[in-house]
Amino acid sequence: MAAPEGFVPPPYPYDRLDAFARLGAAHEGGLVDLSIGTPCDPPPESVLAALGSSDSERGYPPSIGTPALRDAIRGWIDRRFGIDVPASDVAACIGTKELVATTPQFLKLRTPSRDAVLYPAVAYPTYEMGAILAGCRPVPVRTVVAADGTTTLDLDSIDAADVERALMLWVNSPSNPTGALCDLDAAATWGRRHGIPVFSDECYVEFTWRGGPRTILETGRDGVIAVHSLSKRSNLAGLRVGFYAGDSDIVGYLKEVRKHVGMLVPGPAQAAGVAALSDDEHVAVQRDRYRRRLGRMAQILSQWSGLQVPLPDGGFYLWFDAGDGWAFAERLAREGGALVSPGDFYGLGGSHNVRVAVVQTDERIERVAERLGVH
Ligand SMILES: Cc1ncc(COP(=O)(O)O)c(C=O)c1O
Repeated sequence: MAAPEGFVPPPYPYDRLDAFARLGAAHEGGLVDLSIGTPCDPPPESVLAALGSSDSERGYPPSIGTPALRDAIRGWIDRRFGIDVPASDVAACIGTKELVATTPQFLKLRTPSRDAVLYPAVAYPTYEMGAILAGCRPVPVRTVVAADGTTTLDLDSIDAADVERALMLWVNSPSNPTGALCDLDAAATWGRRHGIPVFSDECYVEFTWRGGPRTILETGRDGVIAVHSLSKRSNLAGLRVGFYAGDSDIVGYLKEVRKHVGMLVPGPAQAAGVAALSDDEHVAVQRDRYRRRLGRMAQILSQWSGLQVPLPDGGFYLWFDAGDGWAFAERLAREGGALVSPGDFYGLGGSHNVRVAVVQTDERIERVAERLGVH
């Protein structure tokens, strides 16, 4: 068969770390994987009980989420942010990665004259991939950091032609990988001024270390969508439950098109999602774990390398300038048996950096300290 003329999926970023993973695995006690942001701590018991007892296996689940799930989502938004979102403006997704990856194609079908997807220049790679999969143009937007550490997308730097052709703008606060908090008011105001929907990925919001947790819904629902996930909040990346809430017209459109595609969160997972969203105690425990591990890991890495390793304003990643992200990742795998992500996974602007996910137990983190000879 002839070589394809069109899209060929690029290597999955983490697959490129295989050689470093082997270096780490050669250490006694094996690899300590701090590369992918996959939680290692257990989800609450109540969630596992709900998963096995919902009696929802036989029938097709509603694509938008069961009334119980949408109620639980609304209850959480109200407790967390003091905002009452109508049930009609909330819907489920199968984890948020699929929503990030598929929404541009659905918006493009609706507005074929627009074809640009705007997103932060150093960001979760799926914003760019979603644009590519839709046959759209990914347009990275650089960020400016204010004196207080808040980041603002430099929206004025976007080419006028791209603004005119923009289908959507992604923002992410707290950010993966940088941990920075984004000025959501500025993004929402800009989007409304230009008639461009702003999608705010807030899946790390429960782990906000500076100020309180923020959602773009605080600016109103008009023209904005907040995107959330149980993967990080409740250690449920394997369950695949996320949700989105906001602008009535956009939620209404996405709900309909996603139903046609068969985007269904399995019934037992929806029931488990209700249990997870109804409980805040396990999140408080998790918050303490991440805060402690971030502090300890920053201490270990700065003592060992002599580099400055700042603590993030949110999320559970350390993100710091290591000179050369790939060289640092290799050295840490060789000497500490730990795997971290070179910063260029998140955009070329990140190539000096590394991202360290503190998603291993305290005991595994101490093992890295021992190997590096740090106390
Ligand atoms: C910024 C961001 N958005 C979305 C996701 C997707 O998470 P999930 O599909 O598990 O909800 C991730 C996962 O790492 C992420 O970092």
